[in-house]
Amino acid sequence: MIKFIDLLVQHKQIEYELNTVIQQVIEDSAFVYGKYLTDFENNFAEKIWAKNCIGVANGTDALIIVLKCLGIKQGDEVITAANSFIASAEAISNIGAKPVFVDHDKYYGINVDLIEKKINKNTKAIIPVHLYGQSCDIEKVQEICKKYGLYMIEDTAQSHFAKYKNKYTGTYGNAGCFSFYPSKNLGAMGDGGAIVTNDDKLAEKIRIYANHGSVSKYQHITEGINSRLDGMQAAILNVKLKYVDKWNRQRNLAGLFYNSLLSDCEFVESPDIRKYSEHFFHIYAIKCKKRDELQMFLKSNGIQTGIHYPIALPYLQCYDYLQHKSEDFSQSFKNQSKLLSLPMYPDITQEQILHIVKLIKEFYAKY
Ligand SMILES: Cc1ncc(COP(=O)(O)O)c(C=O)c1O
Repeated sequence: MIKFIDLLVQHKQIEYELNTVIQQVIEDSAFVYGKYLTDFENNFAEKIWAKNCIGVANGTDALIIVLKCLGIKQGDEVITAANSFIASAEAISNIGAKPVFVDHDKYYGINVDLIEKKINKNTKAIIPVHLYGQSCDIEKVQEICKKYGLYMIEDTAQSHFAKYKNKYTGTYGNAGCFSFYPSKNLGAMGDGGAIVTNDDKLAEKIRIYANHGSVSKYQHITEGINSRLDGMQAAILNVKLKYVDKWNRQRNLAGLFYNSLLSDCEFVESPDIRKYSEHFFHIYAIKCKKRDELQMFLKSNGIQTGIHYPIALPYLQCYDYLQHKSEDFSQSFKNQSKLLSLPMYPDITQEQILHIVKLIKEFYAKY
């Protein structure tokens, strides 16, 4: 059996280090705030070349908090990607604003040529998503934001430490919003998230808002929420932070190996890598013919796969009220029945990839 993602194999390699810090957090009772969180925030900010990092409870909260602290409110519109996880859009609705979707380009990032048509007087921000582990066309999104005076909030839940040109995704906009969901390229042992920003004032606002609007204990200058990265997760992430570059390199090599093996398979389109971009394959998604049959065939041969995403955001039931038609986001609509995510994690072996590709070719041999 080849798992879609194997977290245990990675855990085993650093088990001793993790057990040690977990024990330390318990002995220090540093469960909420404290030095483990501060250390992680400082290390993460330094590593990503950002002035501030604020740990929060999860990646969805990170987006909601930034939108809220930038003053986005009911009646405003925020543009985001049509093919993403629901959090990218849900965060917008959660603060009372309207999500406005844009279709994807050939790299599955937001199609920058389609953004300007969606801008009107209510538009306040763009949330570009760096989907699958590589940057979207972020400089172009930045240009558009500048031209129209919009905020840019990067959804970096899938692109930890992936650079565009010589700059990390998450540091192009007003803020970058990370998720540390366990399967992410940098994953916690539970939920976790962080916001990075070079804007000191915004960082301060975020810290206050995410901690019940308080500047110090019981001094609440505003109402906020409780959204914190706990000490245990921060300590675990701090250990993993030392290894994330190595893991990203392994993902990159695994993705390129898949690409080379699949290049002669006419039924499969393997993922392209954007110029100036590093691809760290959070997800290795192929576009393929007879997707559902292939998925069943792989399953019957012990290969787990995933679909990212089976229903593009505009077509989810919760957005029925927006009354989108299939032609509004033709790429996302078409590809929701063609994309298949193959097993991908840092320790996947060449033999495993060879075996998966052999099965894929065997499946298509009858057509
Ligand atoms: C693109 C994207 N944005 C946001 C999120 C939300 O992160 P979390 O699950 O930590 O709330 C995810 C998580 O899967 C994601 O993939």
